[in-house]
Amino acid sequence: FVAKRLAGRKVVLTAGPTFEAIDPVRGITNISSGKMGYALARACAQAGAEVVLVSGQVALPVPAGVRRVSVAGARDMRDEVLAALPGADVFIGVAAVADYRPLDVAEHKMKKKDGILTLSLTENPDILAEVAALPDAPFCVGFAAESRDLDAYAEGKRQKKRLPMLVGNLVQDGMGADDNVVVLYDDAGRHPLPRAPKAVVARGIVEHLAGLLAVAGR
Ligand code: C5P
Repeated sequence: FVAKRLAGRKVVLTAGPTFEAIDPVRGITNISSGKMGYALARACAQAGAEVVLVSGQVALPVPAGVRRVSVAGARDMRDEVLAALPGADVFIGVAAVADYRPLDVAEHKMKKKDGILTLSLTENPDILAEVAALPDAPFCVGFAAESRDLDAYAEGKRQKKRLPMLVGNLVQDGMGADDNVVVLYDDAGRHPLPRAPKAVVARGIVEHLAGLLAVAGR
C-alpha cells in the first residue's frame, strides 16, 4: 500500500472528458472513461492528501476520501479548478479537455435541414497551462495520450506547458482499459513504469510525484 507520502498535502485533479454543448440535447466531447484520473485521485487520498476531483461526465463512483465536483464544459472545469486551487500543493490534469467548443450554443433544439450544416468552433482555455503559469503555481503534473511518437510529443508538451512532471501513454495501451502502461517524464529524463492495473500505475505515479516534491523542497 502507498505510504502516507502526501500527508498534509492538498491535491486538485481533473478527470474525464469535457462536453461542449451545441444545443440542449447535443454536444461534442472527447472519449475518456475517467478511470486513470479516478485511480489517481484514489491513490492520492490513500497517500494521505486532501483531494478535490473536478470531473467531466463519467460513470464512476466517487473514490473514498475524495471530494468530487462535477462539470460539463471546459470553461466550467477551469472555473471549478481555480475555485479549488487555494491552498493546493499539487495540480494534476488528467482530463481529456476538448480543445474547441461551439461558438454559439442554440437555446432550443436545432431542426434538421437539407444540405451541409456548418458549426463554428472556438478555442477552449488550456487549464493546465493556465494553472502552471500562475505566479504561485502548485506543482503541476500533465498527461499526454498519444497515438505515436510518445517520447517526442510527451516531452514537447511538458516543455511547452512548463511542467515539472508529465505522464505519457499510448492511447492503444490504455484508453478505456483497466490496465495501462505509462512513461513518466521529468527534468531527469524518462522513467517507464511496467504494465499494470490502473490502481497500481496510479500508486507508481504518486510515489514518483512525492519524490519530486521532496527534492524540490516543497
Ligand atoms: O490536450 P493535450 O494533449 O495538450 O493535454 C495535455 C495535458 O493538458 C493534459 O494533462 C490535459 O488534461 C491538459 N489540458 C488542459 N486543458 C486543455 C487541454 C489540455 O488542462 N484545454
